[in-house]
Amino acid sequence: MPGSSRMPVSLRNTFIVKKGGSSSQLLSLNIDLFRNIVFFLFLLRWTRKGLLKLKGRGIFGTFADTYIAIRRTAYGLFLRAPGVRSQVQKQVLEAITKLQTKLVPSGPGVTRYLTLPKEGWTYETVLKELENLAAMDHTRWEDGFVSGAVYHGGDDLMKLQTEAFGKFTVANPIHPDVFPGVRKMEAEVVSMVLAMFNAPPGAAGVSTSGGTESILMACLSARQKAYSERGVTEPEMILPETGHTAFRKAGSYFGIKVHLVACPAPTYRVDIKSVSRLINSNTVLLVGSSPNFPHGIIDDITSLSKLALRRKIPLHVDCCLGSFLVPFLEKAGFETELFDFRLKGVTSISCDTHKYGFAPKGNSTVLYRTASLRAYQYFISPDWSGGVYASPSIAGSRPGALIAGCWASLMNTGEVGYIDSCAKIVGAAKKIAEAIVENPALNVDLEVLGKPLVSVVAFTSKTLNIYDIADAMSAKGWHLNSLQDPPAIHVAVTLPIVKVWEKLVADLEAVVEGEKEKERVRVVEGKGAKGKSMGDSAALYGVAGSLPNKSVVVELASGFLDTLYKA
Ligand SMILES: *Cc1c(COP(=O)(O)O)cnc(C)c1O
Ligand SMILES: *[C@@H]1O[C@H](CO)[C@@H](O)[C@H](O)[C@H]1NC(C)=O
Ligand SMILES: *[C@@H]1O[C@H](CO)[C@@H](O)[C@H](O)[C@H]1NC(C)=O
Repeated sequence: MPGSSRMPVSLRNTFIVKKGGSSSQLLSLNIDLFRNIVFFLFLLRWTRKGLLKLKGRGIFGTFADTYIAIRRTAYGLFLRAPGVRSQVQKQVLEAITKLQTKLVPSGPGVTRYLTLPKEGWTYETVLKELENLAAMDHTRWEDGFVSGAVYHGGDDLMKLQTEAFGKFTVANPIHPDVFPGVRKMEAEVVSMVLAMFNAPPGAAGVSTSGGTESILMACLSARQKAYSERGVTEPEMILPETGHTAFRKAGSYFGIKVHLVACPAPTYRVDIKSVSRLINSNTVLLVGSSPNFPHGIIDDITSLSKLALRRKIPLHVDCCLGSFLVPFLEKAGFETELFDFRLKGVTSISCDTHKYGFAPKGNSTVLYRTASLRAYQYFISPDWSGGVYASPSIAGSRPGALIAGCWASLMNTGEVGYIDSCAKIVGAAKKIAEAIVENPALNVDLEVLGKPLVSVVAFTSKTLNIYDIADAMSAKGWHLNSLQDPPAIHVAVTLPIVKVWEKLVADLEAVVEGEKEKERVRVVEGKGAKGKSMGDSAALYGVAGSLPNKSVVVELASGFLDTLYKA
């Protein structure tokens, strides 16, 4: 600027200083303001979080949560202390190695196939090896020794399923024009299940690969609905703590914060007041089970439904396990409760065809009150170079053979068949529960949790270590499920168990007597707990599970997963 060169230096300096001063003042003012706003927003956010926490959990609950968190962190630090860390690592490694020797066959008699055979095996050779694999030493599910796990509908049904597989081995519903029969069967399966759960007109569903996928999809749909209709970006859902862990998986996969609500004794149903308190503007879904996996208890779905309607929040009812039993309880002559779409607040239901529907493993359904709820789980990619792509659930290609197997199972069993199997299965579960409650050889030491109405009977003990009982039952060839919080075990009755429930009760009596005898010896010899040898269940749930920070259990479980892929 020509003029500026003529300006006296002093003036120029003042001018510059002055000018610079005002702008820097302005700048610093702006920064201050900005900082204050950010700080205020930060404060607001945390205050809001704190208040929501206080509202949701109460003062006592908030204190308890904080205490648990501190203990967990402190114990975590302890676990990482130099001497401790190596000791823990060593024991975890030992446990995993022990697991490996149990699960992965080794030794001179075992041939392992780690690469493709150069020349393909003949038909006969493959078949023979398959027979050997099926005959490997295992817990005898065929004789009814396994709780849950094998939802078997009889040998004839199995034959029919195999036939169905054979006809549709290459089928894939992703190409409905190529496999129209598969599309038809899939739609019909969904329609049949919708009718079983008293779906209103306009309801819709999807079939999936299993209960977990059904639950994942229901959670995704609820999250997307809340996002697009209410702009919720920090979704939360409220679960009974006994709700299936697939909901926690959904929380982890889809970024939904999970609130767990206690299911206190004596009913072991979710506490409705606590659910109500935890609802806030971020809540996208409430959940109830009918029944839950751990204790086989049906939550108070009627109250949950009222709450859901009042607060205008979707409610999912998990009938994955209840599947083809709960809808038929009444017709089979048992006590029941409302749990399905007849309750207006219920917006979605998961029902596993592959559990008590006896379909081959890998099949389930998720049902929605409206088609628009279903559309929220769809994935559509309109601009992919591979073409316009649309898929209803997680998988892309899907096995048509399984759909045929599922359809064949439902058609072959029919309503009368399912009512009949409900009568047998729930009947046996009631007999087992009755034995534990009424038989003096059992009812002194064992206690049934809540009032199970379906197929699962869970029990605990006030006098004996329940995990020792689980291990002693394992030694007798039974595979029961160990539970935690509270320590308990359960049996999920299936058709194979129906034939042997009396033996189960007799073995349980013997085991309880044996454990009492051991206890007596221990007291007489003054040995205390140290003197006893520990089974797998007692070690995992009794010792590792009681630690304030379960990172050791996480390491063990992760090692277990690695073991599954050891050839
Ligand atoms: C089995 C089960 C599920 C999950 O089913 P998967 O088919 O194993 O994925 C969900 N909820 C309950 C209550 C179950 O028992
Ligand atoms: C539990 O312990 C592990 C291992 O020391 C640690 O990494 C983890 O952060 C701890 N968990 C919590 C919640 O503090
Ligand atoms: C059966 O399972 C497959 C995946 O495992 C799924 O794609 C299909 O939709 C299911 N069909 C039915 C009828 O449930």
